[in-house]
Amino acid sequence: MNQAMNQDELKAAVADAAIAEIKSQLEKDTILGIGTGSTANLFIDRLGPLRHLFKGAVASSKASAERLEKLGIEVFELNSVGTVPFYIDGADEVNANLHMIKGGGAALTREKIVAACAKRFICIADGSKYVPKLGTFPLPVEVIPMARSYVARELVALGADPVYRQGVITDNGNQIIDCYEFMIDDPVAMEARINAIVGVVTNGLFAARGADVLILGKADGIERITLR
Ligand code: 5RP
Repeated sequence: MNQAMNQDELKAAVADAAIAEIKSQLEKDTILGIGTGSTANLFIDRLGPLRHLFKGAVASSKASAERLEKLGIEVFELNSVGTVPFYIDGADEVNANLHMIKGGGAALTREKIVAACAKRFICIADGSKYVPKLGTFPLPVEVIPMARSYVARELVALGADPVYRQGVITDNGNQIIDCYEFMIDDPVAMEARINAIVGVVTNGLFAARGADVLILGKADGIERITLR
């Protein structure tokens, strides 16, 4: 890897590294959990030629399911699968504790559900996503549409500047509020606090269940960070 790599090339490099991480562990009955976004897409594209090595995938969005199916990878309903050995997904921000902000692509709820069912969460991200403190990226919150204004007022009370993401409907038929100007000191506590607001489906803090492995693409090479 050299200094000239751009963000897309770094995303491709971490997708390659994630393939290398899991390839030898794929078995005929393996069902993988697959995330959403441009980095996850690069990972999906690399899974296509390996489809004979594993059984299929559970997807965290309709878009990822469609991409997997186009490559001939069978997509299963999570309810019929139970647990998955790996969940591979990108992030909007990730810190040294492998807590993340996710949901830039509005898929946070399904991402959190598949991640909850995964034995190992492998986060793949280019170096720009690695931050000392979460919150520069606006925190997404998925809300039941009729609760949007109420939830926004509660988010103001928590110190955020909430902005309705106009024109976006999630795969679950809900809406997204993005929390600006909201640096997060305690991601585990804030994740629980926001999720306790009536009308919130979930928020984009992935802290109670963070990543197990971070594969980070930096100008000077791939760094693999793990806590457990
Ligand atoms: C989608 C997500 C993505 O993982 C996140 O937005 C990162 O996307 P990208 O890989 O395109 O930078 O949480 O809801």
